Amino acid sequence: MSPSSYLTRRRFVKTTAVLCASLAGAGALSACASDEAAAPEADSAPEPEPSAEPAPEAANQADTPAEPEPEPEPTPAGDGNVLVAYFSYPETTEASDPANLSTEEENSAVVVDGQIKGNNEFMADIIARETGADTFRILTTRSYPADHQGLIAQAQEEINAGDRPELAEPIPDLSGYDTVFIGYPIWWAELPPVMHSFLEQADLAGKQIYLFNSHGGSGNAGTKEEIKSILADATVSDDNFVVSRDAVANSEQDIVDWVRGLGF
Ligand SMILES: Cc1cc2nc3c(=O)[nH]c(=O)nc-3n(C[C@H](O)[C@H](O)[C@H](O)COP(=O)(O)O)c2cc1C
Repeated sequence: MSPSSYLTRRRFVKTTAVLCASLAGAGALSACASDEAAAPEADSAPEPEPSAEPAPEAANQADTPAEPEPEPEPTPAGDGNVLVAYFSYPETTEASDPANLSTEEENSAVVVDGQIKGNNEFMADIIARETGADTFRILTTRSYPADHQGLIAQAQEEINAGDRPELAEPIPDLSGYDTVFIGYPIWWAELPPVMHSFLEQADLAGKQIYLFNSHGGSGNAGTKEEIKSILADATVSDDNFVVSRDAVANSEQDIVDWVRGLGF
């Protein structure tokens, strides 16, 4: 399926106009793969409980034994209880021409039906379509420089300072979601600071978490392990989806396969 066949899903948030810049020097890798073997999590597709047959001797007794309590049905995947939360910062401006992006712009964006999407935005939309999920785009009130070097410098400052940029939109009520996909770009081989704001504020306890990220050469950069540590009271799957920015535009089928492998 080509990216142009993608259908945009509803979002909870409006996208604010932000000026973006691009990363210089990040190596380009062509890998597009799940970080781990694509085996679904053992607990992602629970086996149905075996039906409880009455013991033969019990059937002969005068007192009929109490019927065993039926096991609760597992919640089917994609049943409206899935959220995709993501941060994406396409390195484009409002003046960018979708038909004529610079190399730097192309690195962090995908054009779908003439519309520019950030790499993680593109992935989030495919995951939401495949799982029937709602989406929440993580935005910050902070503005970033439009020029490439300025953005890189500010991002590094924020990371070094341990900043927690303010979220521009309140996190939606998560109580109705069993499964949350979380997506983000790699910044300076780290989580973008606003991802820390989200992860620290969101009540994700007890939820099944699946991670996806794009990068310019750093791969997962240890972010899965970091998120596992931050979300110690959630179940963060080892089976995360990691893709080079160069391969994002052609990754739709890989994303679909990954999501289906998870049991959706
Ligand atoms: C400030 C900044 C820092 C970045 N640092 C890295 C990095 O350290 N390693 C890397 O592989 N890619 C890095 N990148 C590249 C992004 O991870 C990559 O372009 C990603 O696909 C962007 O996704 P998005 O369009 O969803 O924001 C950086 C990008 C930016 C803007």
